[in-house]
Amino acid sequence: MLTELVKRSMPLPPQSKLLILGAGFSGQHVAALARKLGSNVLCSRRDINSPGADVAFDSVAKKIPPLKVLREVTHLLSCIPPDPNGEDPVLTTLSAHLKEMPLEWVGYLSTTGVYGDRKGEWVSEADNPQPEQSRSKRRLSCEQAWEASGLPLQILRLPGIYGPGRSALQSIRNKKIKMIDKPGQVFSRIHVDDIAGAAFHLIHLANKGQRPQIINIADNLPTTNTEVLRFAASLLGIGVPPLEPFESAAKTMSPMALSFWQENRRVSNQMLCKDLGYSLIHPDYQSGLKDCLDQDK
Ligand SMILES: NC(=O)c1ccc[n+]([C@@H]2O[C@H](COP(=O)([O-])OP(=O)(O)OC[C@H]3O[C@@H](n4cnc5c(N)ncnc54)[C@H](OP(=O)(O)O)[C@@H]3O)[C@@H](O)[C@H]2O)c1
Repeated sequence: MLTELVKRSMPLPPQSKLLILGAGFSGQHVAALARKLGSNVLCSRRDINSPGADVAFDSVAKKIPPLKVLREVTHLLSCIPPDPNGEDPVLTTLSAHLKEMPLEWVGYLSTTGVYGDRKGEWVSEADNPQPEQSRSKRRLSCEQAWEASGLPLQILRLPGIYGPGRSALQSIRNKKIKMIDKPGQVFSRIHVDDIAGAAFHLIHLANKGQRPQIINIADNLPTTNTEVLRFAASLLGIGVPPLEPFESAAKTMSPMALSFWQENRRVSNQMLCKDLGYSLIHPDYQSGLKDCLDQDK
């Protein structure tokens, strides 16, 4: 859907340079949109030989992009998760450099995990974070450190990210699925194209002076995992295993998987889509998975 995204998006302001730190799955999609729009973009990965890497950045190995590159960066997007101590790899390594860069916009990809469990209720940017998992507490510390940086910051809070090559279609093809039945349990999600589209929309609005600090980037339809798996299986023309009650499935789940099932919330995108006027490319998992099927081919 890159073609559709390009039609809907505006390039960076002239003379701008976007640096994407941690250009993995999401970062590469943002970079692809930037390039198609004719914008100047550079991507960092820890290993310069990784696909799509223009410069190396590794906070642990202290690999830093060349100063000449940093000094030209006007727009920065960090997609790098917190380190094990809850510190932000970019802020701990590049703080001094960030102050000298001509930054007009800084985006930080965070998670909606900071909201904690909401017992299936809707949650918006106006709700105070209540992280329960230790990884979400680390994430909130990083958000706070970015907020304290004084940079022209926007925090993009993301639910489960999926897209071509990383969706329920792969889980089904790899026969890795269980139809876990936990009545009332939903998950929110976002297609990676909409992360790219929303980032460019936000940059454009920020350039016009509208820059709310925190924005949820989620689709319109939080839903159960089983609905998503059923739909994905139907696209592949295969059946799904029988339902398994959560209580029995939980016995063999990894602590990480279990932690996801302990939180239940519906992430509101009203600010992004209503107040800020972003139109989702994939408003729900049906649209998103059909796209994944096309792109996977
Ligand atoms: N996956 C989800 O469903 C989900 C949901 C909500 C939020 N998030 C968060 O959203 C962000 C983007 O997600 P994603 O799935 O696109 O991430 P991803 O593909 O895992 O990319 C993470 C990037 O961070 C880089 N990185 C990790 N540690 C680093 C360090 N110490 N120094 C420098 N670079 C480092 C990685 O480098 P390499 O390229 O060298 O590996 C990679 O490019 C992440 O912060 C993620 O935690 C993810």
